Amino acid sequence: MPSLTATRVQPAPRLRGGVRPPGDKSISHRYAMLAALAEGESTLSGFAPGADCASTLRCLEDLGTIVHRSPGTVSLIGRGLRGLRSPAGPLDTGNSGTTMRLLAGLLAGQPFTATLTGDDSLRRRPMRRVIDPLTRMGARIDAPGDRAPLTIAGGGLHGITFEPTVPSAQVKSALLLAGLFARGETQVVEPAQTRDHTERAFEAFGIPVTRDGLAITVHAASMVSPRPLTIPGDLSSAVFWMVAAAGLPGSEIDIEGVGLNPTRTAVLDVLRRFGAEIHVDEDHVTAGEPIGRIRVRGGTLRPVSLDEREVPGVIDEIPALAALAALGSSLVVRGAAELRVKESDRISALAAGLRTLGAAVDEYPDGFQVQAAALTGGTVDACGDHRLAMAFAIAALGASGPTDILGADSVGISYPGFFETLDELRA
Ligand code: S3P
Repeated sequence: MPSLTATRVQPAPRLRGGVRPPGDKSISHRYAMLAALAEGESTLSGFAPGADCASTLRCLEDLGTIVHRSPGTVSLIGRGLRGLRSPAGPLDTGNSGTTMRLLAGLLAGQPFTATLTGDDSLRRRPMRRVIDPLTRMGARIDAPGDRAPLTIAGGGLHGITFEPTVPSAQVKSALLLAGLFARGETQVVEPAQTRDHTERAFEAFGIPVTRDGLAITVHAASMVSPRPLTIPGDLSSAVFWMVAAAGLPGSEIDIEGVGLNPTRTAVLDVLRRFGAEIHVDEDHVTAGEPIGRIRVRGGTLRPVSLDEREVPGVIDEIPALAALAALGSSLVVRGAAELRVKESDRISALAAGLRTLGAAVDEYPDGFQVQAAALTGGTVDACGDHRLAMAFAIAALGASGPTDILGADSVGISYPGFFETLDELRA
């Protein structure tokens, strides 16, 4: 159902200034889950402030973990590998696919039954990709039509070798988490490299993990050590400022404290292909995750194409890249049917919104083409999808008139404060 309240974005000739993006969502979920399995207190600074990671924390509380929240920092008192308790009711993962799929893996290993549910969008998303391999490992999962709610009767798992057909860090991570509770060896052989935060997080919490090319192997864990950890800024959130800087001539944006994990930085190469001037300085590595600064300035934009091999590396950044194309270039994306099963159908919702703003868009079953044109502004629907709300807001900066974004409050999923930062950068 379209949201009735709209957020108005006025055009801006350029953006300038410095930004510290919110904590990385993918890393925050993983650290919180491992902290819940640790014996003792883990302090996570820079924990992602959005609603998705809040869903993870609430589910972990429902499983018996004690969580203390203070601004910018979360600490969890873990219950140890065998200490989670059966929740009193369904675990609500909200809009967060990562929470649902990773917790499905973790719950598969527990000696009790629990139900994972979520909002309307999440209850439409495909779950067979985790149900099948977790069932092969020995979990009993009930899911009407292979969608949430998922009722998982866990325990008694044995390791398997699993070769997913779709590249997915969520599926890989679900299996690796289940593998911590399985007899024998659990191996995932990826069809293409996906973000490796789970592997790095396992190492940070003292859990052995073996990596050999695209094969990742874990064994049952004997203990998880609590840790004080710092979470880098989220590159997928920062990318909205990068595309604004690249697409609005005369802009310059300096992004500090951002994660530079090489399985996440493919978008920087794509931005360079568009013609953006990008300087990256890595400052340090914390718990295996590189952190640094990225400065972006616009240049003359060139057309870009992305194919199936590149899509997994930039899957979350495609809405932002489409906004950049609308601002003054063109982008062809193929082999990206996965976009249709994200928080919204990102292919059709992007096409509809960018067309309303004035861009020329062709839609394909597995992608789209966006061609810049004189953008006018108008009323667009983010379809409750945080990344679409931010992509439309950036494209709206280059329009001749104002843009009203329906459902723009969805930015709170990953980037509360996005619109306030946008206003600061206009100055
Ligand atoms: C994520 C993996 C990706 C990504 C999502 C976060 C993760 O999803 O799109 O936003 O943290 O593991 P898939 O695993 O479905 O590709």
